Amino acid sequence: MKQQEQWTSKIGFILAAAGSAIGLGAIWKFPYIAGQNGGGAFFLLFIIFTLFLGLPLLLAEFSIGRTAQKNAVESYKTISPGTKWHWIGIMGMITSFLLLSFYSVIGGWIVAYLYKTLTGQLASVDASSYAEIFGSTISHPFGSVLVQLIFMVMTILVVSRGVQQGIEKASKIMMPALFVLFILLVIRAVSLDGAMEGITFLLMPDFTKVTSQTILEAMGQSFFTLSVGVSVMVTYSSYLPKTENLPRAALSIGGMNIFIVLLAGLAIFPAVFAFDLQADAGPVLLFQVLPTVFSQLPGGMIFFAGFLLLFLFATLTSAFSMLEIIVSVLSKGDKAKRKKWAWIIGLAIFAVGIPSTLSYGVLAEATLFGRTFFDNMDYVVSNILFPIGSLLIALYVPNKMKKSALYEELQSGSRMKKGLFQTWFILLRYVAPLLIIIVMLDVLDVF
Ligand code: PHE
Repeated sequence: MKQQEQWTSKIGFILAAAGSAIGLGAIWKFPYIAGQNGGGAFFLLFIIFTLFLGLPLLLAEFSIGRTAQKNAVESYKTISPGTKWHWIGIMGMITSFLLLSFYSVIGGWIVAYLYKTLTGQLASVDASSYAEIFGSTISHPFGSVLVQLIFMVMTILVVSRGVQQGIEKASKIMMPALFVLFILLVIRAVSLDGAMEGITFLLMPDFTKVTSQTILEAMGQSFFTLSVGVSVMVTYSSYLPKTENLPRAALSIGGMNIFIVLLAGLAIFPAVFAFDLQADAGPVLLFQVLPTVFSQLPGGMIFFAGFLLLFLFATLTSAFSMLEIIVSVLSKGDKAKRKKWAWIIGLAIFAVGIPSTLSYGVLAEATLFGRTFFDNMDYVVSNILFPIGSLLIALYVPNKMKKSALYEELQSGSRMKKGLFQTWFILLRYVAPLLIIIVMLDVLDVF
C-alpha cells in the first residue's frame, strides 16, 4: 500500500471535515424537518443530541482514523486484526453510496435553480409562484435526471483528483464565503415585517409536538449533519498528522454545524411566517422560501445566484466525502486506480439515484409504506443506517480500543484534560449505546 496522502494544512482539514458536515443536512433538511416537527422543540432536541452523542462520536471516529491512518475498512483491520469489526467500514461505504444516490437529487435541484436564476427565469415572480416553478423543475423527467448527472460528474471530477488538489483547495474558499452570505440573508429575514413569529417558532420549544418519531428524527439528524456513523470522519482524519488537536477540531466542527443550522432556521422561518407560507411544506421549503426573501433585497436575484452557488459548494463538499470514503478503500492509495474507481462508483451511484429523482415526477405515485422511493431511501439511511452505524462505533471504540492508547491518541497535539477524556469515554461507552437503542426501540413500538 502506498504512503497515505496528508492534508497540507491544519485549516485544510478542519474546512474539509466541516465541509463534509455542513451540507444539505443543516441547510436544506433541518429547516423542513423542524418545520414538520414543531420547530423549537426539534431544534432543542437536535442540539442536545449533537452535544451529547454527535460530538463524542465524531471524536471517536477521529481517534480511529488517526490511530490507524488507513482508509475506512483498513483502519478497523489494523486496530482489530482478525475480527469482523471492519464491517463497520463496509457498512459505512454502503450507507454513503445509498446516501449520495439521493443527496445528488437535491444537488441537481440546486444546479437547476442556479441555471434558472442566472438565465433570469426567477426574476419578478411573486412569492406563491416559486412553488409552482420549483414543482415543474423537479418533476421534469429528463431535466431532473440531467442536473443530477451534472452534480455527480462534478463530484467525480474533484474526488478523482485526490485529497489535496481537489477537496482541500475547494473547501478553503467556499466555506467562509457561505457563512458571510448566510449572515446577510439572516439580517434581511429577521428584519421582515412579521418575522417575530418565525423566530419564536424556531426558538421557543413546544413540547406538545414531540413524539417518539420526532426524537428519532432529531437523533438521526444530528448524526447526519455531523457526518458520523458512516466512517467518513475516520477516512478524513486518517489524512491527519499526529500534531493535530482532535478534541478542538471536533468541537469547532460541531460548533460551526450548530451555528449554520441556526442561521438556516433564522433565514427561513421568519420569512415563512412573514409571507404566509407553509412551515411544513417538506423538501421544497428552502427552494420556495429563499427566493422570496432574496427578492426583497435590492439586487436580490444576484445575491440569490451567489447564495445558490455557495449552497452548491456546501453540498458538493459533503458529496465529495461520501464518494471519497468508497474510492479510498477501493483504490488503496493508488492514483491511477483512484480515477477509475471514482468514475465507476460515481456513475453507479447516479444510476441507483435515478428512481429517487423521478420520485418527484413520474414516480410520484409509486409508493411503499406510504412513502416514495426517495422518501424510503432517506428514511432507511437517516433513521436506520446512521443510528446503527453510530451505535456500532460507540460499541467499538471504548470496548475494543485500549483506553490508555485512546488517551494518548487524543492527547497527541492537544492537552485534553483527564476529566474531559473520562466524560467522553463514559458518554461513548454507556450513554450513547443506551440512548440510541432506546430511541430506536421506542419508534419500533417495542415497549
Ligand atoms: N453531513 C452531511 C450533510 O449534512 C451529510 C453527510 C453524511 C455527508 C455522512 C457525509 C457523510 O449534508
